[in-house]
Amino acid sequence: MATPLSRAPVASPVEVRDDFPILRRERHGRPIAYLDSASTSQKPHAVIEAIADYYRLSNANIHRGVYGLAQEATDLYEGARERVAAFCGGEAATTIFAKNITEAINLVAYSWGRSRLGPGDEVLITEMEHHSNIVPWQLACQQTGATLRYLSISEDGELSLDELDAVLAEGRVRLVGVIHISNVLGTINPVREICTRARAAGAVTLVDGAQAVPQMSVDVDEIGADFYAWTGHKALGPTGIGVLHGRRELLEEMPPFLSGGDMISYVGYESSTWNDLPWKFEAGTSPIAEGVGLGAAIDYLGGLGMEQVRLHERELTEYALERLGEVPGLRVLGPLEVERRGGAISFALQGIHPHDIAEICDREAVCIRAGHHCAQPLMRRLGVPATARASFHVYNGREDVDRLMSALEQARSVFGL
Ligand SMILES: Cc1ncc(COP(=O)(O)O)c(C=O)c1O
Repeated sequence: MATPLSRAPVASPVEVRDDFPILRRERHGRPIAYLDSASTSQKPHAVIEAIADYYRLSNANIHRGVYGLAQEATDLYEGARERVAAFCGGEAATTIFAKNITEAINLVAYSWGRSRLGPGDEVLITEMEHHSNIVPWQLACQQTGATLRYLSISEDGELSLDELDAVLAEGRVRLVGVIHISNVLGTINPVREICTRARAAGAVTLVDGAQAVPQMSVDVDEIGADFYAWTGHKALGPTGIGVLHGRRELLEEMPPFLSGGDMISYVGYESSTWNDLPWKFEAGTSPIAEGVGLGAAIDYLGGLGMEQVRLHERELTEYALERLGEVPGLRVLGPLEVERRGGAISFALQGIHPHDIAEICDREAVCIRAGHHCAQPLMRRLGVPATARASFHVYNGREDVDRLMSALEQARSVFGL
């Protein structure tokens, strides 16, 4: 049964576990303890049903047909956009749907980057970025002659605003790109402060909110970023849809990214003119079912209340940090105070490779991630090839952390530790 969207905030969002059908599955005769939501979240009935209902009842191509069904599909998609925009304090016209956050960042790197950067300019990102906010800037810099620079991180996995000020003061930075919450360290970066300082220095800002929007209340207007991007599948929504909130003046001046149907106003033999925002940046048939599904996902999160979602994540993170601290030889990477971090907890266990940890966890039906988490420069900075990582969402409870603890005990005993 789908969750009623109007449900009042709950004290403990873990009560919603039943809304996630996949969590009824068993592995090795045990229910799954899913601790990999930083990678992708599970989906509630409400999202699955919204997508199925769209295909069952309302499927037609959008923005084109004059018949009722096409109008209905268009209203569903554009209605979802309006709610997604409002969910993050943005406007529908400046909320662009992309395939995922990676494509959203590429949109900025191709359209803004290639038209604005040149030799002598600098793009400033940080050592804790995901590859999605590194590689597009490497390519943009290689093609325009601009230089890519990195803000360093401290031993605690945090950025220094003094270093930011010093680099900005050199006067060459045209764009600052920063991750809101690190998918490896959990660090919550002071993005509002970073955007204010960058803006004062004349730089454009881009925030990677992939780990923030799913877990806390985000107001893009208050943060003041020129571009704020996130991805639907980590926010209880489907794969195949990401979001870019952009500043209107910039989006209006920028050339299109991908081109073809839907993003045009007039097509001549030699040249064309562009559609209004946001469609100027949405070429071809849109991810309609995915948009509808994302709308249902943010309705679901909104029904729980983002303050409650964050509170739950904090409580669970605090519990997990406390319990992990009991394991001999285990080192947590990133800040240890819950106020300064999100719920992705990366750790190293002396004497056991992260992949072995993840594999032994799997035998206990505990799903954690092991690897470089698409952050190879950060791994090099931390001096590790990979980490094990546990992460949470509203459907997790203390019992999942306890299951992780027994699996870690198991791993230590297998390795004779
Ligand atoms: C912080 C961060 N940025 C970007 C991404 C890329 O997301 P997607 O693969 O949906 O584009 C991820 C996914 O792991 C992430 O954690």
